[in-house]
Amino acid sequence: MQFLEIEGGKALHGRIGISGAKNAVLKLMAACLLTAGECVIRNVPRIRDVRTMVEILRGLGAKVEWEESGEMRITSGEELTFEAPDKSARQMRASIQVLGPLLARLRRARIAHPGGCAIGARPVDLHLMGLRKMGAVLVEEYGYISGWCRELTGQDIYLDYPSVGATENLMMAAALAKGTTVIYNGAREPEIIEVQNFLNCMGAKIRGAGTDIIRITGVDELHGADYTVVPDRIEAGTFMVAAAITGGELILAPVIMDHLQLVVAKLREAGVVVEAEGESVYVKGSHRLAALTLRSAPYPGFPTDMQPQFTAMLTKADGISLVSESVYTNRFHHVDELVRMGADIAVDGRLAIIRGPRRLTGAQVQAGDLRAGAAVVLAALAADGITQIGGVEHIDRGYERLEEKLRLAGALVARRESVTVEEPVLV
Ligand code: EPZ
Repeated sequence: MQFLEIEGGKALHGRIGISGAKNAVLKLMAACLLTAGECVIRNVPRIRDVRTMVEILRGLGAKVEWEESGEMRITSGEELTFEAPDKSARQMRASIQVLGPLLARLRRARIAHPGGCAIGARPVDLHLMGLRKMGAVLVEEYGYISGWCRELTGQDIYLDYPSVGATENLMMAAALAKGTTVIYNGAREPEIIEVQNFLNCMGAKIRGAGTDIIRITGVDELHGADYTVVPDRIEAGTFMVAAAITGGELILAPVIMDHLQLVVAKLREAGVVVEAEGESVYVKGSHRLAALTLRSAPYPGFPTDMQPQFTAMLTKADGISLVSESVYTNRFHHVDELVRMGADIAVDGRLAIIRGPRRLTGAQVQAGDLRAGAAVVLAALAADGITQIGGVEHIDRGYERLEEKLRLAGALVARRESVTVEEPVLV
């Protein structure tokens, strides 16, 4: 098993490149199932979740070529089948995103219930409700979701919660449905705009992404497209916190500041300097950070995917910080690990109470999920001494070349193989 070893206490300085957005590219890859034409997606990050989605698409019979340059070519020709490979589908939440495209393209689908970060209940009821309303028959049994439809028809769909994945699944299904679909209370994340832009490049007729009402006029057929993915706002936010927590200075690029309004506002409130210059952003940390009150919420609220990273940063802030996780029921796995490193954090349900500043010290810790892993990496960068982080496979799901990027900014980080010592068999 691999682990990361970090010697902390060094302020980071330098430039870090931001990769393509994980939570956009996974959906664009699924959308390629909607056409037999060749699609080209550029700026695809080399991360584990993308590799898993490649396995799913190939398992469905699509042809996928992925260049070192980050360019990916996907063709879902006539040999496309409707059953997604189990092992890959179980590995991540985004596998649910092939459900809508398969029903729209093949009128059939069968996928294992999706896996993903263990951060609380992750139902798919809103996905299924919308697809059923459009005419799909969907059955959940034996750990699978099986679906079929004679055709999909445009409907008015009201989401009880602005689910990102459900909004995207329904947009993709509605793109080829008969008639017009209107999604009310849709998610407003930047990734939704990416899905709309990509589908419209394929010939779809969608408008309203970025607002809570999205209109999709179904068309008979979609064609291939050539599209470049935006930079990852959560990766950029993570490195902003790296500058903040180590008291260093980083220049990050490319960054779309519009995608990070609440993150930047909260960093500035904590006393961090954040200055945008074109596609670059300059971030300067401070050895004295102000305590904050944070509440995660659907976009444009504070992103839940930045909550663990801010929780790590606030262990160094002066005073008591309150962090409320309103999106997920169990997204504080990082707290136990941060406490092992000297943090003073108490969790009561969806609220974390953080007392600072605390001196963090290196320890052996675990990355329980993707963003909890990011949180312990950030804490390790600021801690005195050596931290060893197990579960690095979780971090690899969403961060491309993380230790290489951190080393470029002066961090002392290495990836090591843990030697499993076989217990001598006493005869
Ligand atoms: C996407 O997950 C992201 N993942 C998540 O990022 C992110 O945290 C989340 O959006 C919110 O921004 C990808 O895009 C691959 P949701 P998704 O559907 O689509 C409830 C990361 O770290 N819900 O908006 O699964 C659900 O229980 C990952 O990169 C239902 O109740 O998010 C949860 O509480 C983690 N019924 C809330 O909505 C449904 O049918 C958010 O889920 C669907 C969701």
